[in-house]
Amino acid sequence: MSGGKTSMDHRRREGTLFDVPRPGRTGVRLPPLDVPTADPGALFGAAHRPEVAGEVEASEVDVVRHFTRLSLLNFAIDTALYPLGSCTMKHNPRINEEIARLPGFAEVHPYTAEHLVQGALELLWLLEERLKVLTGFARVTLQPSAGANGELAGTLMVRAAHIARGNARRHVLVPDSAHGTNPASAHFAGYSVVELASSARGTLDLAELEAKLTDEVAALMITVPNTIGVFEENILKIAEMVHAKGAYLYLDGANFNAFVGKVRPADMGVDVMHMNLHKTFSTPHGGGGPGAEIGRAHV
Ligand SMILES: Cc1ncc(COP(=O)(O)O)c(C=O)c1O
Repeated sequence: MSGGKTSMDHRRREGTLFDVPRPGRTGVRLPPLDVPTADPGALFGAAHRPEVAGEVEASEVDVVRHFTRLSLLNFAIDTALYPLGSCTMKHNPRINEEIARLPGFAEVHPYTAEHLVQGALELLWLLEERLKVLTGFARVTLQPSAGANGELAGTLMVRAAHIARGNARRHVLVPDSAHGTNPASAHFAGYSVVELASSARGTLDLAELEAKLTDEVAALMITVPNTIGVFEENILKIAEMVHAKGAYLYLDGANFNAFVGKVRPADMGVDVMHMNLHKTFSTPHGGGGPGAEIGRAHV
Protein backbone atom coordinates (compact mmCIF):
# COMPACT_ATOMS: atom_id res chain seq x y z
CA MET A 1 0.00 0.00 0.00
CA SER A 2 1.41 3.36 -0.96
CA GLY A 3 0.32 4.98 2.37
CA GLY A 4 2.33 2.43 4.35
CA LYS A 5 5.36 2.81 2.08
CA THR A 6 5.37 6.60 2.54
CA SER A 7 5.32 6.19 6.33
CA MET A 8 8.21 3.71 6.22
CA ASP A 9 10.25 6.10 4.04
CA HIS A 10 9.72 8.87 6.60
CA ARG A 11 10.59 6.54 9.44
CA ARG A 12 13.94 5.84 7.81
CA ARG A 13 14.67 9.47 7.05
CA GLU A 14 13.27 11.42 9.98
CA GLY A 15 15.75 12.19 12.74
CA THR A 16 15.31 14.76 15.49
CA LEU A 17 15.31 18.52 15.10
CA PHE A 18 18.77 18.56 16.70
CA ASP A 19 20.27 16.32 14.02
CA VAL A 20 20.84 18.89 11.29
CA PRO A 21 22.20 22.14 12.72
CA ARG A 22 20.89 25.20 10.91
CA PRO A 23 22.82 28.00 12.57
CA GLY A 24 20.95 31.25 12.87
CA ARG A 25 17.54 29.92 11.90
CA THR A 26 14.64 30.88 14.13
CA GLY A 27 10.86 30.81 14.09
CA VAL A 28 10.49 34.35 15.47
CA ARG A 29 12.50 37.52 15.10
CA LEU A 30 12.18 39.70 18.17
CA PRO A 31 12.98 43.38 17.90
CA PRO A 32 16.16 44.45 19.73
CA LEU A 33 15.38 44.34 23.48
CA ASP A 34 16.46 47.07 25.91
CA VAL A 35 16.40 44.81 29.01
CA PRO A 36 19.50 43.72 30.94
CA THR A 37 20.88 40.21 30.35
CA ALA A 38 19.82 37.81 33.13
CA ASP A 39 21.63 34.79 34.61
CA PRO A 40 19.38 31.72 33.91
CA GLY A 41 20.86 29.84 36.90
CA ALA A 42 19.78 32.62 39.26
CA LEU A 43 16.39 32.95 37.56
CA PHE A 44 15.37 29.26 37.42
CA GLY A 45 17.37 27.69 40.24
CA ALA A 46 17.28 23.88 40.23
CA ALA A 47 15.04 23.88 37.16
CA HIS A 48 17.89 25.31 35.07
CA ARG A 49 19.69 22.60 33.05
CA PRO A 50 23.08 23.91 31.98
CA GLU A 51 23.93 20.51 30.46
CA VAL A 52 21.42 21.18 27.67
CA ALA A 53 23.57 22.98 25.16
CA GLY A 54 21.58 25.68 23.45
CA GLU A 55 18.28 25.31 21.66
CA VAL A 56 17.24 23.95 18.32
CA GLU A 57 17.89 26.49 15.63
CA ALA A 58 15.08 25.90 13.19
CA SER A 59 12.62 27.95 11.22
CA GLU A 60 8.87 27.66 11.64
CA VAL A 61 8.49 25.50 8.51
CA ASP A 62 11.34 23.22 9.67
CA VAL A 63 9.43 22.56 12.89
CA VAL A 64 5.98 22.21 11.32
CA ARG A 65 7.26 19.85 8.61
CA HIS A 66 9.22 17.77 11.13
CA PHE A 67 6.14 17.19 13.30
CA THR A 68 3.88 16.65 10.30
CA ARG A 69 6.26 13.94 9.05
CA LEU A 70 6.29 12.36 12.52
CA SER A 71 2.48 12.36 12.56
CA LEU A 72 2.57 10.25 9.37
CA LEU A 73 4.26 7.49 11.35
CA ASN A 74 1.07 6.98 13.38
CA PHE A 75 -0.78 3.87 12.36
CA ALA A 76 -4.22 5.12 11.39
CA ILE A 77 -7.39 3.76 9.86
CA ASP A 78 -6.92 6.49 7.24
CA THR A 79 -3.93 4.62 5.79
CA ALA A 80 -4.70 0.95 6.48
CA LEU A 81 -6.99 -1.38 8.41
CA TYR A 82 -6.39 -2.32 12.04
CA PRO A 83 -5.25 -5.96 11.92
CA LEU A 84 -6.27 -6.21 15.57
CA GLY A 85 -8.55 -9.19 16.13
CA SER A 86 -12.16 -8.14 16.21
CA CYS A 87 -11.31 -4.48 15.60
CA THR A 88 -10.83 -5.57 11.99
CA MET A 89 -14.51 -6.51 11.82
CA LYS A 90 -15.93 -3.03 12.28
CA HIS A 91 -15.79 0.37 10.65
CA ASN A 92 -16.25 3.76 12.30
CA PRO A 93 -17.63 6.18 9.72
CA ARG A 94 -16.10 9.66 9.78
CA ILE A 95 -19.50 11.25 10.54
CA ASN A 96 -19.48 9.58 13.99
CA GLU A 97 -16.20 11.28 14.83
CA GLU A 98 -17.77 14.61 13.84
CA ILE A 99 -20.81 14.01 16.04
CA ALA A 100 -18.69 12.98 19.04
CA ARG A 101 -16.77 16.22 18.61
CA LEU A 102 -19.85 18.49 18.83
CA PRO A 103 -19.00 21.02 21.55
CA GLY A 104 -22.15 20.14 23.53
CA PHE A 105 -20.76 16.62 24.06
CA ALA A 106 -17.01 16.90 23.66
CA GLU A 107 -16.63 19.78 26.06
CA VAL A 108 -18.87 18.57 28.85
CA HIS A 109 -16.94 18.45 32.11
CA PRO A 110 -17.66 15.59 34.54
CA TYR A 111 -18.53 18.14 37.22
CA THR A 112 -20.83 20.26 35.06
CA ALA A 113 -23.99 21.08 37.01
CA GLU A 114 -26.72 18.56 36.22
CA HIS A 115 -29.24 21.14 35.09
CA LEU A 116 -26.79 22.21 32.35
CA VAL A 117 -26.34 18.71 30.86
CA GLN A 118 -29.89 17.45 30.70
CA GLY A 119 -29.62 16.90 26.92
CA ALA A 120 -26.53 14.70 27.27
CA LEU A 121 -28.12 12.78 30.17
CA GLU A 122 -31.28 12.23 28.15
CA LEU A 123 -29.19 10.82 25.31
CA LEU A 124 -27.40 8.41 27.67
CA TRP A 125 -30.71 7.29 29.16
CA LEU A 126 -32.22 6.76 25.71
CA LEU A 127 -29.21 4.69 24.68
CA GLU A 128 -29.56 2.53 27.81
CA GLU A 129 -33.24 1.97 27.01
CA ARG A 130 -32.47 1.01 23.39
CA LEU A 131 -29.71 -1.38 24.51
CA LYS A 132 -32.19 -3.06 26.83
CA VAL A 133 -34.47 -3.71 23.87
CA LEU A 134 -31.65 -4.99 21.64
CA THR A 135 -30.18 -7.32 24.24
CA GLY A 136 -33.27 -8.40 26.17
CA PHE A 137 -31.65 -7.54 29.50
CA ALA A 138 -33.26 -5.88 32.50
CA ARG A 139 -30.58 -3.30 33.30
CA VAL A 140 -27.82 -1.45 31.45
CA THR A 141 -25.12 0.87 32.72
CA LEU A 142 -22.92 3.15 30.67
CA GLN A 143 -20.58 3.78 33.59
CA PRO A 144 -17.67 1.55 32.44
CA SER A 145 -15.40 3.64 30.27
CA ALA A 146 -14.14 0.85 27.97
CA GLY A 147 -14.81 -2.76 27.04
CA ALA A 148 -12.21 -4.07 29.49
CA ASN A 149 -13.70 -1.85 32.19
CA GLY A 150 -17.12 -3.35 31.38
CA GLU A 151 -15.68 -6.86 31.71
CA LEU A 152 -14.37 -6.05 35.16
CA ALA A 153 -17.72 -4.57 36.20
CA GLY A 154 -19.46 -7.69 34.86
CA THR A 155 -17.18 -10.21 36.55
CA LEU A 156 -17.50 -8.27 39.82
CA MET A 157 -21.28 -8.51 39.42
CA VAL A 158 -20.94 -12.26 38.95
CA ARG A 159 -18.83 -12.41 42.11
CA ALA A 160 -21.35 -10.33 44.07
CA ALA A 161 -24.18 -12.59 42.91
CA HIS A 162 -22.33 -15.72 44.04
CA ILE A 163 -21.39 -14.13 47.37
CA ALA A 164 -25.06 -13.26 47.93
CA ARG A 165 -25.75 -17.00 47.55
CA GLY A 166 -23.07 -17.84 50.09
CA ASN A 167 -20.07 -18.91 47.95
CA ALA A 168 -18.00 -16.67 45.65
CA ARG A 169 -16.59 -19.77 43.88
CA ARG A 170 -13.02 -19.92 42.58
CA HIS A 171 -12.66 -20.17 38.81
CA VAL A 172 -13.70 -18.49 35.60
CA LEU A 173 -13.50 -20.50 32.37
CA VAL A 174 -12.08 -18.66 29.37
CA PRO A 175 -11.59 -20.18 25.88
CA ASP A 176 -8.08 -19.97 24.43
CA SER A 177 -9.36 -17.79 21.56
CA ALA A 178 -10.54 -15.06 23.96
CA HIS A 179 -9.32 -11.48 23.89
CA GLY A 180 -6.56 -10.97 26.47
CA THR A 181 -8.71 -8.65 28.56
CA ASN A 182 -11.06 -11.56 29.47
CA PRO A 183 -8.62 -13.51 31.67
CA ALA A 184 -7.22 -10.22 32.99
CA SER A 185 -10.68 -9.08 34.14
CA ALA A 186 -11.49 -12.43 35.75
CA HIS A 187 -8.17 -12.31 37.57
CA PHE A 188 -8.78 -8.74 38.76
CA ALA A 189 -12.19 -9.84 40.07
CA GLY A 190 -10.42 -12.38 42.27
CA TYR A 191 -10.85 -15.55 40.19
CA SER A 192 -8.31 -18.02 38.90
CA VAL A 193 -8.60 -18.46 35.15
CA VAL A 194 -9.06 -21.91 33.63
CA GLU A 195 -8.36 -22.01 29.90
CA LEU A 196 -10.55 -24.04 27.56
CA ALA A 197 -8.86 -25.46 24.46
CA SER A 198 -10.92 -24.72 21.33
CA SER A 199 -12.12 -27.36 18.91
CA ALA A 200 -10.43 -27.80 15.52
CA ARG A 201 -13.10 -25.46 14.06
CA GLY A 202 -12.19 -22.71 16.53
CA THR A 203 -15.40 -23.03 18.56
CA LEU A 204 -15.90 -24.11 22.16
CA ASP A 205 -15.20 -27.81 22.68
CA LEU A 206 -18.19 -29.21 24.62
CA ALA A 207 -16.20 -32.17 26.00
CA GLU A 208 -13.53 -29.76 27.27
CA LEU A 209 -16.26 -27.60 28.87
CA GLU A 210 -17.87 -30.63 30.48
CA ALA A 211 -14.52 -31.71 31.95
CA LYS A 212 -13.67 -28.32 33.45
CA LEU A 213 -17.12 -27.16 34.55
CA THR A 214 -17.03 -27.92 38.28
CA ASP A 215 -19.12 -26.58 41.18
CA GLU A 216 -16.32 -24.08 41.82
CA VAL A 217 -16.74 -22.39 38.43
CA ALA A 218 -18.29 -18.94 38.83
CA ALA A 219 -18.74 -18.17 35.13
CA LEU A 220 -17.86 -19.03 31.57
CA MET A 221 -16.73 -16.02 29.54
CA ILE A 222 -17.52 -16.47 25.90
CA THR A 223 -17.19 -14.24 22.84
CA VAL A 224 -19.75 -14.50 20.02
CA PRO A 225 -18.70 -14.41 17.28
CA ASN A 226 -15.32 -15.17 18.76
CA THR A 227 -12.08 -13.32 18.12
CA ILE A 228 -11.38 -15.41 15.03
CA GLY A 229 -14.85 -14.58 13.70
CA VAL A 230 -16.63 -17.92 14.34
CA PHE A 231 -20.17 -18.15 15.79
CA GLU A 232 -20.86 -20.57 18.65
CA GLU A 233 -23.54 -22.75 17.08
CA ASN A 234 -23.99 -24.64 20.39
CA ILE A 235 -24.64 -21.53 22.44
CA LEU A 236 -27.99 -22.78 23.83
CA LYS A 237 -26.45 -26.08 24.90
CA ILE A 238 -23.48 -24.22 26.42
CA ALA A 239 -25.82 -21.95 28.43
CA GLU A 240 -27.75 -24.98 29.65
CA MET A 241 -24.57 -26.74 30.82
CA VAL A 242 -23.28 -23.62 32.60
CA HIS A 243 -26.58 -22.93 34.37
CA ALA A 244 -26.95 -26.55 35.43
CA LYS A 245 -23.76 -26.06 37.49
CA GLY A 246 -25.10 -22.85 39.05
CA ALA A 247 -22.54 -20.73 37.10
CA TYR A 248 -23.21 -17.65 34.99
CA LEU A 249 -22.73 -17.20 31.28
CA TYR A 250 -20.77 -14.03 30.55
CA LEU A 251 -20.80 -12.72 26.98
CA ASP A 252 -17.96 -10.60 25.69
CA GLY A 253 -20.16 -8.56 23.38
CA ALA A 254 -17.33 -6.78 21.58
CA ASN A 255 -18.60 -8.34 18.35
CA PHE A 256 -22.32 -7.80 19.01
CA ASN A 257 -22.39 -5.90 15.69
CA ALA A 258 -22.39 -9.29 13.94
CA PHE A 259 -25.89 -10.18 15.17
CA VAL A 260 -27.44 -7.09 16.72
CA GLY A 261 -31.10 -6.84 15.68
CA LYS A 262 -31.24 -10.55 14.79
CA VAL A 263 -30.82 -12.36 18.11
CA ARG A 264 -31.04 -11.06 21.69
CA PRO A 265 -28.21 -12.28 23.95
CA ALA A 266 -30.68 -12.80 26.82
CA ASP A 267 -32.52 -15.30 24.59
CA MET A 268 -29.23 -17.12 23.99
CA GLY A 269 -29.00 -17.77 27.73
CA VAL A 270 -26.46 -15.03 28.48
CA ASP A 271 -26.63 -13.62 32.03
CA VAL A 272 -24.31 -10.64 31.79
CA MET A 273 -22.41 -9.00 28.97
CA HIS A 274 -20.39 -5.98 28.05
CA MET A 275 -20.38 -4.18 24.75
CA ASN A 276 -17.67 -2.07 23.25
CA LEU A 277 -19.54 0.92 21.92
CA HIS A 278 -16.55 1.62 19.66
CA LYS A 279 -17.40 -1.57 17.80
CA THR A 280 -21.13 -2.24 17.58
CA PHE A 281 -22.10 1.41 17.76
CA SER A 282 -18.96 2.68 16.04
CA THR A 283 -18.19 5.47 18.45
CA PRO A 284 -14.65 6.79 17.91
CA HIS A 285 -11.97 4.27 18.88
CA GLY A 286 -9.37 5.70 21.21
CA GLY A 287 -8.34 5.33 24.81
CA GLY A 288 -10.54 2.24 25.02
CA GLY A 289 -13.73 3.92 23.89
CA PRO A 290 -16.92 3.86 25.91
CA GLY A 291 -18.22 0.48 27.07
CA ALA A 292 -21.53 -0.69 28.42
CA GLU A 293 -22.40 -3.34 30.94
CA ILE A 294 -25.62 -5.20 30.79
CA GLY A 295 -27.20 -7.85 32.95
CA ARG A 296 -30.31 -9.75 33.81
CA ALA A 297 -32.22 -8.60 36.87
CA HIS A 298 -31.14 -11.60 38.96
CA VAL A 299 -27.39 -11.09 38.52
C1 LIG B 1 -13.25 -9.39 21.89
C2 LIG B 1 -12.81 -8.19 22.68
N1 LIG B 1 -13.05 -8.12 24.01
C3 LIG B 1 -12.66 -7.07 24.75
C4 LIG B 1 -11.99 -6.00 24.20
C5 LIG B 1 -11.54 -4.87 25.10
O1 LIG B 1 -12.23 -3.69 24.83
P1 LIG B 1 -11.60 -2.24 25.04
O2 LIG B 1 -10.50 -2.08 24.03
O3 LIG B 1 -12.76 -1.28 24.77
O4 LIG B 1 -11.15 -2.17 26.47
C6 LIG B 1 -11.72 -6.00 22.83
C7 LIG B 1 -10.99 -4.87 22.24
O5 LIG B 1 -11.01 -4.16 21.45
C8 LIG B 1 -12.13 -7.12 22.05
O6 LIG B 1 -11.88 -7.18 20.74
